[in-house]
Amino acid sequence: MINRNILTLDEFTIRQYRKIPNASGELSALLRDISLAAKRINVEVNKAGLVDILGDANVTNVQGEQVKKLDVFSNNQMIGVLKHGISCAGIASEELDDIVIFDDDVSNKSKYVVMFDPLDGSSNIDTNVSIGTIFGVYRRVSELGKPCSVDDFLQPGIKQVAAGYIVYGSSTMLVYATRRGVNGFTLDPSIGEFCLSHPDIICPEDGKIYSVNGGYYSQYDTSVKKYIDILQNKTKENGGPLTQRFTGSMVADLHRTLIKGGIFMYPLTTDNPNGKLRLMYECNPFAFIIEIANGMALNGTQRILDVQPSNIHQRVPIFIGSKNLVKECLSYVAEKK
Ligand code: AHG
Ligand code: MN
Ligand code: MN
Repeated sequence: MINRNILTLDEFTIRQYRKIPNASGELSALLRDISLAAKRINVEVNKAGLVDILGDANVTNVQGEQVKKLDVFSNNQMIGVLKHGISCAGIASEELDDIVIFDDDVSNKSKYVVMFDPLDGSSNIDTNVSIGTIFGVYRRVSELGKPCSVDDFLQPGIKQVAAGYIVYGSSTMLVYATRRGVNGFTLDPSIGEFCLSHPDIICPEDGKIYSVNGGYYSQYDTSVKKYIDILQNKTKENGGPLTQRFTGSMVADLHRTLIKGGIFMYPLTTDNPNGKLRLMYECNPFAFIIEIANGMALNGTQRILDVQPSNIHQRVPIFIGSKNLVKECLSYVAEKK
């Protein structure tokens, strides 16, 4: 007997698109393509210790970071599914210097471009800590029927039509947001399908966990240090005591923040004076997801989603999570400006 109460990702996205008059189904197809790449990456992540997929690929990427073999594998899987699908005209990836314009008859007629971090948390691969894939989907501004252009990619995050991530953790989950809401799907390995497990996710307005790399404390602005001190000294009376957690995989830290509430911060440091995390591949998708889920995401002075990008690889500081904590953070962090 088939359990009709459990919806697969495909069934769910098709139900959504059937509700929208004149919808083309391209977004459902795009999510199906991404979920296929996710399943392939998941298989590789799961057997990482057994095959020759751990370790460095002996190259440095455009971000100046050491590339891991799984970064390369994941990047190729994402590009492969999107290039051969029917919904994507081109992509930008954290791992590639330039945008990739697919430029074939079908792709040129496709509505969307996708920007992604194929493998987030690469420094955790070799030690079995949760890692992920992050993506943001934009409607093209260039003329349909022609190849897409760089203007399609240099759009502020508020223009995303969908954003999501996959976390390869103690279970593998795909979470995605559209303006209709945020929904989470857990991979059921017995049927190889992502199944709706977390419908209509809302980020709690408060939380008990703050997430920041405490090792860089001495590199933060005085205002950020002051706010971290406030968080560390919260008592029962003002919402504390809080717990501090920071995995080194944004995807894992923000998945927890989305579900349990809390605040995640990656401020400016003296080593990374523009911030470390990437606006287009990491911050915009999560800002979109968290905002749709009733949370907030700021760069210290403005909404992440309002930042007008000038470069696809640009970095930003980020303060993101439960509404009340991010508002409180802003009252300290904005003080200095
Ligand atoms: P990536 O693996 O895609 O390069 O991203 C890693 C990012 C992010 O996931 C994480 O929050 C941050 O780098 C951790 O960096 P530090 O350990 O330097 O704080
Ligand atoms: Mn990343
Ligand atoms: Mn990455």
